[in-house]
Amino acid sequence: MSQGYFVTGTDTGVGKTLISAALARLFALQGLKTVGMKPVAAGCREEHGVLISEDVEILQAASNVRLPLNVINPYAFKPPLAPHIAAKMTGRQIELSVINQAFLQARLNADVVVVEGVGGFCVPINDIQSMADVAVACDLPVILVVGMRLGCINHALLSVEAILARGLVLSGWVANCIDPEMAALTQNLDALKALIPAPCLGVIPFQGAPDYVTVSSWLEAIVVHQNKLSHSAE
Ligand SMILES: Nc1ncnc2c1ncn2[C@@H]1O[C@H](COP(=O)(O)OP(=O)(O)OP(=O)(O)O)[C@@H](O)[C@H]1O
Ligand SMILES: [Mg+2]
Repeated sequence: MSQGYFVTGTDTGVGKTLISAALARLFALQGLKTVGMKPVAAGCREEHGVLISEDVEILQAASNVRLPLNVINPYAFKPPLAPHIAAKMTGRQIELSVINQAFLQARLNADVVVVEGVGGFCVPINDIQSMADVAVACDLPVILVVGMRLGCINHALLSVEAILARGLVLSGWVANCIDPEMAALTQNLDALKALIPAPCLGVIPFQGAPDYVTVSSWLEAIVVHQNKLSHSAE
């Protein structure tokens, strides 16, 4: 049975790509056919007429299945803006059905699809739908990356509420220490552990030069979790 995760975050820039790539690497190392997917990316660079997302490049490097760019990244935009605004500015419209088709294509070709959201959980993709609808369409368990900084408890709890309100499974959350000087880190972690009704899958320390290979070795809990999932599906 195809499985995977939808990786969301408390905000943009909180480490979704780092964690998604680390996850993809873990699954690939387990011998599972794994592909990372970023349905919508903004802030892309143009090379020979093709828009390239740095996130997609990182996810590709961590995956062991190669799929066409229009499958792993159906929507790429140049302006570094909220996706529905970037789409409007470039005369395009993001369609959930296109993302869904791409996801189904990825799922057909891999055992595990790691889908990285864009921004936070409720970021709009067009005038009526949001990344939350993408998560529902993929129907994957969700992993929430909490960017550890002042304000993260509120952002985390709002995200958890939004995820659960849509009937999705919250598999767990990862505390990613993006602020090297965060005050009362331990107390914040304790509060999040007490308030989020899902396991903390790892606490990723702040790193000068973060790389997903190192991070993957800190996410062992997720491997254990994944194994439990596959056994319960048997
Ligand atoms: N634990 C960490 N320590 C230090 N830097 C980190 C850490 N985690 C992430 N970063 C850095 O923070 C930046 C944002 O991380 P990342 O790109 O993974 O976030 P994101 O949530 O995927 O962002 P986006 O919303 O743009 O997709 C990157 O430069 C990354 O290298
Ligand atoms: Mg990213």
